[in-house]
Amino acid sequence: MNQPSQNSTKPESDSPGLKQSAPLEETANNDESTNASPKRSLVSGSNFDRSKPDNKNASTMIDVRDVNFYYGDVQALFNVNLTVPEKSVMALIGPSGCGKSTFLRTLNRMNDIIDGTRVEGTIKLENQNIYDPTIDVVALRSRVGMVFQKSTPFPKSIFDNIAFGPRLSGTTSKSKLTEIVERSLQQAALWDEVKDRLSDSAMALSGGQQQRLCIARTLATNPEVILMDEPASALDPASTARIEDLIFELRKQYTIVIVTHNMQQAARVSQYTAFFYQGRLIEVGPTKELFTNPTEKQTEDYITGRFG
Ligand SMILES: Nc1ncnc2c1ncn2[C@@H]1O[C@H](COP(=O)(O)OP(=O)(O)OP(=O)(O)O)[C@@H](O)[C@H]1O
Ligand SMILES: [Mg+2]
Repeated sequence: MNQPSQNSTKPESDSPGLKQSAPLEETANNDESTNASPKRSLVSGSNFDRSKPDNKNASTMIDVRDVNFYYGDVQALFNVNLTVPEKSVMALIGPSGCGKSTFLRTLNRMNDIIDGTRVEGTIKLENQNIYDPTIDVVALRSRVGMVFQKSTPFPKSIFDNIAFGPRLSGTTSKSKLTEIVERSLQQAALWDEVKDRLSDSAMALSGGQQQRLCIARTLATNPEVILMDEPASALDPASTARIEDLIFELRKQYTIVIVTHNMQQAARVSQYTAFFYQGRLIEVGPTKELFTNPTEKQTEDYITGRFG
């Protein structure tokens, strides 16, 4: 299967209330090579049209099956099924408290650090169940990086912020670290602004620069997936536009899942959108179709501003 869907094995009728906004092609994703090695092509893709899915032949990067999530006795996610194709952007939308952040955090096990939480179901990253007990969670989080709403630079130099992850995973060579720092800052479109002051404190950067720094820090560990939880909601319009442009560039190499309250932003940056409501995935599909021709009434009500 190469497109997001709620269910690859069962007919849709098994998931009452869950519909896709458009028929999605079934294609085999049984390429054994997806098991063998992560695909980390550094070759940029062709020029993407932002408005439509451009990776019809992409294989599945994230495969979520029957996921329920609980904070103690309180269930926050109900039977979520979806797939995210590699090198695409999926936006998660829905009213406050519907479970977007909770769902995002299940994708790199960030919820594990919250006491009393429990997840059911499977989430596969390139065919590997990330909830398998043998999974190294630190390694998982370097493959599935995360950027938060509030930028969170460490009180260290710009250089040391970016070098932090690589150092943690054992890189000590100064020249190697210098190379990683430059590459990551270039990719995060921050290099030109900071290249002459890498030893200055990251705390002295503007809010928009700090957020790009955090993206650079995530890129430094060579992730395949980047999770972003409202990465631009605290930023001014110019900084927001820079982050959106950056997401557009990054999706040539990375799979991105982004939570946003801003529907224009979802429409601008994503090829796929998933609408959550009260802990349930109501609808997922190509962004353009979900926004112009939603299947579910709840989606329509939300995107037309009737609630939320
Ligand atoms: N650490 C926590 N402990 C207990 N309940 C939590 C915790 N975090 C979130 N919840 C609950 O889980 C539900 C989903 O919350 P979540 O933060 O995932 O929503 P959201 O869609 O990201 O909302 P927002 O748009 O306001 O960020 C809410 O009912 C919330 O109160
Ligand atoms: Mg949230």
